Amino acid sequence: MMAPTGHPIAGKKILISGASAGIGRETALLLAAQGMQVLALGRNESALQSLQALAPKGSLRWLAGDLNEAAHLDAIEPELADVDVFLNNAGVLRYAPIMDLTAEDFSWMFQTNVLASIQLTQRVARHMVTRRKGHLVFMTSIAAREVYRTASAYCATKHALSAMARSFRLELQEFGIKVSEIAPGMVDTDIRASSDHPVVVAAIQNRKFSPLSPAEVASAVMFALQSPPNLCPDLIELRPQGSL
Ligand SMILES: NC(=O)c1ccc[n+]([C@@H]2O[C@H](COP(=O)([O-])OP(=O)(O)OC[C@H]3O[C@@H](n4cnc5c(N)ncnc54)[C@H](OP(=O)(O)O)[C@@H]3O)[C@@H](O)[C@H]2O)c1
Repeated sequence: MMAPTGHPIAGKKILISGASAGIGRETALLLAAQGMQVLALGRNESALQSLQALAPKGSLRWLAGDLNEAAHLDAIEPELADVDVFLNNAGVLRYAPIMDLTAEDFSWMFQTNVLASIQLTQRVARHMVTRRKGHLVFMTSIAAREVYRTASAYCATKHALSAMARSFRLELQEFGIKVSEIAPGMVDTDIRASSDHPVVVAAIQNRKFSPLSPAEVASAVMFALQSPPNLCPDLIELRPQGSL
């Protein structure tokens, strides 16, 4: 039997939302170093500038803006016609006991994690359908299949996003479009910084395992992108060892 080889990704154009921090940032750097043409999105301009400085010269461009604003989606539109891969990664969370979550918490998480993310995916996918090729990669979470205490709203958004990922796959596979879902457990990023409820802070302090690194998740994204044409990695779940 031949050893598996990664399908070439160099020269392909990838759009990455949430590339200014955490998993998206690490993935942008890894894929730029592999020769992909990266278009990085995020709100934090200075973080995007420093990301560009770290990437190989000419491999990474960025567009700053809020995905919840239609004007930003319109500004991205002219870039979409030749996107080969979309890493749909931007996301937010606030953990708190279910009775302490506010209506604002729910709408903030659903707006960013589900509604904005689907709108951008539709825009990218329209061009992929025309070209009859492309790869949509959704960064969901273990929270897309499980629910856990204090994470109700976030889990609901990730369940919804996963349902959308599977629907995109179902309806767009006939156009040659792959859809992959990357579903990590806890990753060492700043995403939990706004979760300051004492119950949540205590739970995080008492955890008995080390979270994944953003680089480990980035390598799973690269694995999915390197799949040969007739192989679609539908779902890659990643857990920190010892976290069950
Ligand atoms: N960390 C984990 O434990 C974990 C586990 C499983 C799945 N995930 C998922 O992985 C993805 C990335 O999370 P992360 O941990 O890397 O988080 P992070 O470090 O907080 O990064 C989140 C990214 O999303 C961007 N973003 C958030 N709201 C935005 C908006 N309204 N408009 C534009 N960009 C926005 C942020 O950009 P700015 O900062 O520039 O606004 C940032 O680049 C999320 O979808 C998250 O749900 C994370």
